[in-house]
Amino acid sequence: MSNKMWGGRFASGPDEIMEEINASIGFDQKLALQDIAGSRAHAAMLAKAGIVAAEDAASIDRGLDAIGREIESGAFAFSRALEDIHMNIESRLAELIGPAAGRLHTARSRNDQVAVDFRLWVRDAIDGLDVQLRGLQTALAEKALAYAGAVMPGFTHMQAAQPVTFGHHLLAYVEMLARDRSRLRDARHRLNESPLGAAALAGTSFPIDRDATAKALGFDRPTANSLDSVSDRDFVLETLGAASICAIHLSRFAEEIVLWATPQFGFAALSDRFSTGSSIMPQKRNPDAAELVRGKAGRIIGALNAMFIVMKGLPLTYSKDMQEDKEGTFDALQSLSLCLAAMTGMVGDLEPNLERMKAAAGAGYATATDLADWLVRTLKMPFREAHHVTGRLVGLASGKGIGLEELSLAEMQGVAPGINSEVFAVLGVDKSVESRTSYGGTAPANVRTQAEGWLARLKAE
Ligand code: ARG
Repeated sequence: MSNKMWGGRFASGPDEIMEEINASIGFDQKLALQDIAGSRAHAAMLAKAGIVAAEDAASIDRGLDAIGREIESGAFAFSRALEDIHMNIESRLAELIGPAAGRLHTARSRNDQVAVDFRLWVRDAIDGLDVQLRGLQTALAEKALAYAGAVMPGFTHMQAAQPVTFGHHLLAYVEMLARDRSRLRDARHRLNESPLGAAALAGTSFPIDRDATAKALGFDRPTANSLDSVSDRDFVLETLGAASICAIHLSRFAEEIVLWATPQFGFAALSDRFSTGSSIMPQKRNPDAAELVRGKAGRIIGALNAMFIVMKGLPLTYSKDMQEDKEGTFDALQSLSLCLAAMTGMVGDLEPNLERMKAAAGAGYATATDLADWLVRTLKMPFREAHHVTGRLVGLASGKGIGLEELSLAEMQGVAPGINSEVFAVLGVDKSVESRTSYGGTAPANVRTQAEGWLARLKAE
């Protein structure tokens, strides 16, 4: 039997494999509610414009409403033979209301229909991610405030570089997430135009009102070029791009949590709620949630890559390749949402080991820069010379296997005669962080101000 929605010119139905490769209903049923919203807006506009009789539009609207409830309750029977969500819904509409259902597709094509549905879905996903991102920022800023003065090593090249505070480190991620939110907002802003009414590709001869459907669906305006309307997937690329950058931020943080939770670092313990045990090694507490956040970032970036490659050679306008836009996007944005939820939970439960962090901050000559700065300030040495002198003192201490603060004054004066006993004050890690008062620096007072500022702004949103 040929397809009942478009099979007029076909003598027989598709091959089994044709049906399998062609059908998208297995995944695009996620667009059901968006499809119904788009159809209701379209039907109402058709009636208002006098293109479809008011009573037909009313029965279309009632039918679509009933189908929405069937889908939400799980009663709707999806059919692969009907290919996709658009034809599944339209076919069910015909069962429910009869021939009037056939009028819904006037001045419309699945090409503009799917573009509308997908934009609506991506828009909702962005809005959901924004709420979650704000939640994670709040959890981070709260922790940052609680640990504004907790000293830990700051690293470069994975080696202890200078002491910083745990709060300062957490606020770095608050900044990254703010940029992620802004990128997603940008993507939302650009995607918020309605392609409905572009029809197959060329527009339509019916006197439709595209402003009305755009407005009904919460779009800022209709898209301006019908060819672009049905072939544009920039909004997917852009959203996945922003999602990938966000996933990279989460992944970097996840990697740090994995490191901190190792017995070797011992900087922070993950709660039982976000750890797993080993089936063979009873002592283990594995940071699986953090590792999965790190792993899923790969999957999200993979979806972006797949989409780039699907789109790169497509001539205008619609080609069926574009049906491949959905699975990766659904998966990527839902994975990101899950990662954000897991991260928010982990951050809330994260318990830093303050002694371990502080001890590590002092080890590895991390206050060497403070010593060099002191030589500049107190002995008026040029920084380059101070750097050299400090390097010799570090060499001396490391040769003896002791810390800088354990060198005697006489030993220090052997390298730079002007050094006096005040130098010992800057060799402690607390003094070191307290001195970093430049804007954006790690001084606990700065961190407290920044954390409080963030919390106030997040609350006021
Ligand atoms: N299922 C299709 C998709 O997801 C809908 C658009 C079909 N358009 C077409 N000309 N065959 O892209």
